[in-house]
Amino acid sequence: MKPIIARTIAEVRAAVRAARADEQRIGCVPTMGALHDGHLELVRVAKRNTEFVVTTIFVNPTQFGPNEDFARYPRTLDADVTRLEEVDCDLVFAPAVDEMYPESLTTVEVAKLGDQLCGPRRPGHFRGVCTVVLKLLNIVQPDVAVFGAKDAQQARIIVRMVRDLNVPVEIVVAPTVREADGLAMSSRNRYLSPEERAEAPRIHAALRAIRNRAIAGETDAARLESALNHELAAIPGARIDYASIVDDSTLKPIAILDRPALAAVAVFLGSTRLIDNITIP
Ligand code: PAJ
Repeated sequence: MKPIIARTIAEVRAAVRAARADEQRIGCVPTMGALHDGHLELVRVAKRNTEFVVTTIFVNPTQFGPNEDFARYPRTLDADVTRLEEVDCDLVFAPAVDEMYPESLTTVEVAKLGDQLCGPRRPGHFRGVCTVVLKLLNIVQPDVAVFGAKDAQQARIIVRMVRDLNVPVEIVVAPTVREADGLAMSSRNRYLSPEERAEAPRIHAALRAIRNRAIAGETDAARLESALNHELAAIPGARIDYASIVDDSTLKPIAILDRPALAAVAVFLGSTRLIDNITIP
């Protein structure tokens, strides 16, 4: 069945109230739209855990920097709704900017976890993410909310925010969905030229290569990090924003791989910034 499309907070609350009255548990999948199979997988996960799934589609202006792609971010609501029908999404919340931000003086920020990786390169980004995600969780009031491991730092920050602020929701983090050649699915992949698209899988390949080296016994994070940077630098047209090996839970730099680590990268291919990561057990 085609999902209900809600444009206002009042409509979402009414639909959620009705579902709850019908003893359905509520799932929520926050997105910015331009949906791909990675997003749809999150909806499937939500649907396995709950009966009534709300997908939010909102290109959140507060998480984009002044020189980022807010204006040109793809907006494809009709196609998104069609795809959401395939995965039994019950309600799509697609608010206008004014509905979400009539006037607001409040923001939410998680300390420390935003100090590395994307944090310093995108000032204010995670404040915008946290603020909008907390608002969406308060609007939908889901039992379960699903996020993707592809945005590893974002997922850790949201888990922490929910814990620190006692938000009554269970956060599920679902694995990264990839194209057949390994490229992590992203709404931004459609910006890539055919040449860039052909090189893009090498990002994941580089991450896998250093993961394999770690599994084979290399424990020196600096050596792995330099191998990773070397592999990424060899991709034609790539500019490395960062390529780091960090503690999997604190996201702080790590010297020796004596605990779970995360290799996380952000790479510009032309003007498109792609992120990806791999966990090192
Ligand atoms: P967006 O980039 O649209 O991603 C929405 C959700 O889909 C996030 O939880 C993201 O981690 C997940 N996702 C994206 N690509 C994925 C992939 N290849 N495999 C698995 N999951 C994937 O992330 C955002 O939007 C925004 O910051 C948001 C949380 C909605 C707040 O505005």
